[in-house]
Amino acid sequence: MGIKLLLNKAHVPGIRSYEVYRREGGYRSVEKALQMAPADIVEEVKKSGLRGRGGAGFPTGMKWSFLAKPEGTPRYLVCNADESEPGTFKDRYLMEFIPHLLIEGMIVASFALGSNNSYIYIRGEYAWITDILETAIEEARQNGFLGKNILGSGFDCDMYVQRGAGAYICGEETALLESLEGKRGNPRIKPPFPAIKGLWDCPTVVNNVETLAAVVPIINNGAEEYAKIGVGKSTGTKLISACGNINKPGIYEIDMTISVEEFIYSDEYCGGIHNGKKLKACIPGGSSVPILPANLLLTTAKGEKRLMNYESLSDGGFATGSMMGSGGFIVLDEDQCVVRHTLTLARFYPHESCGQCSPCREGTGWMERILKKIEYGKGEMKDIDLLWDIQRKIEGNTICPLGDAAAWPVAAAIRHFRDEFEWHVLNPEECKTRNYGLANYAEPLQILI
Ligand SMILES: Cc1cc2nc3c(=O)[nH]c(=O)nc-3n(C[C@H](O)[C@H](O)[C@H](O)COP(=O)(O)O)c2cc1C
Ligand code: SF4
Repeated sequence: MGIKLLLNKAHVPGIRSYEVYRREGGYRSVEKALQMAPADIVEEVKKSGLRGRGGAGFPTGMKWSFLAKPEGTPRYLVCNADESEPGTFKDRYLMEFIPHLLIEGMIVASFALGSNNSYIYIRGEYAWITDILETAIEEARQNGFLGKNILGSGFDCDMYVQRGAGAYICGEETALLESLEGKRGNPRIKPPFPAIKGLWDCPTVVNNVETLAAVVPIINNGAEEYAKIGVGKSTGTKLISACGNINKPGIYEIDMTISVEEFIYSDEYCGGIHNGKKLKACIPGGSSVPILPANLLLTTAKGEKRLMNYESLSDGGFATGSMMGSGGFIVLDEDQCVVRHTLTLARFYPHESCGQCSPCREGTGWMERILKKIEYGKGEMKDIDLLWDIQRKIEGNTICPLGDAAAWPVAAAIRHFRDEFEWHVLNPEECKTRNYGLANYAEPLQILI
């Protein structure tokens, strides 16, 4: 049984309530942290090696140390609970079942950063979780862990939950800040980074839910203990939301030393491929990261077993590797069509693009239309090259990484499964008659180009 730091108490009956959470040892890290100097907490988080769990994997302690501290200016901690990346549903679980773990981590982080008002920006669709969080915040307030002079330390901190309106782009940290300020969620041009000029132009740290929850075991057990778990620059545990053609979809807390093969096939985790089929491919880190065919997923190009961690999943760069991303692990069996699958993903991005930059605004729509054309048996060979050309022109040419996020899955699908795209061009009649059993995929067959 793998080590658990975040979900170890998830199955304790009533753990959602303050009373049970506290009885199980909850809020100890706040008591400990309030005895420490804020700078020492930042140092501890740095030493732990914790990396942001929202997708980019940026070292958390380093991000905290960048926070500007001008005299007389408020600072803010903002928790990114937008969780809109297709395939990712881990933060939902943490907030729904162990809300006090996030609140506890946020109080410690708020103290370390000097934030007296901290915010949780939660995706609009998580309406019932908003209620759960607000109840938990009120319980923490009633018990002296939020509000004025927390536990007599002289530190004041309050916490607020703000629901988004259902836009993926509001998960990008600067769009999130715009939205939190009550504006349209358009990403800002960086620099300045939020650590200098964030919420209401004040220094701000934005961290993911899981990142902030991980601060609790780091403070409780010490950075060294935390850093002993995992391998290399992938320390601690990681939540993975696994879905697709596997026997046991769900949320798993993994020690980042396990192999991808073990994760997919062992009964402790995904339990193998559904119906005994063969593994065809996998998107290991949410819809925005490159898809990998089975051979490159299980083994790196160097012939080593690929592990479920940041370094190993990205080994080989995009030529033969992918990314840990947000930990949304989507498995495809041998019956799945990569072109169809890429189209499904590509339909998401034009809908979610904020429209500020033309490569993203126009390119995402063009990619969807060309993929649709190929998938429905109307494609030509030159469309595959056109698709490749469009994704290249988006990547790296936009204000925020949504453009890259739309381009990478298309690029990887062509890179690793070009033969499938060609098959569609060469077999137009079969494309038109294939039945995927997707009754709800009812979009009219409109080929616009
Ligand atoms: C289009 C887009 C959507 C994003 N969505 C999320 C999200 O839902 N949750 C999240 O934590 N980070 C998301 N991110 C990453 C955030 O911009 C930011 O890097 C992250 O919240 C930082 O927290 P961390 O350092 O704890 O990972 C998104 C980024 C982009 C470009
Ligand atoms: S890349 Fe897309 S989502 Fe990001 S700022 Fe540009 S248009 Fe908006």
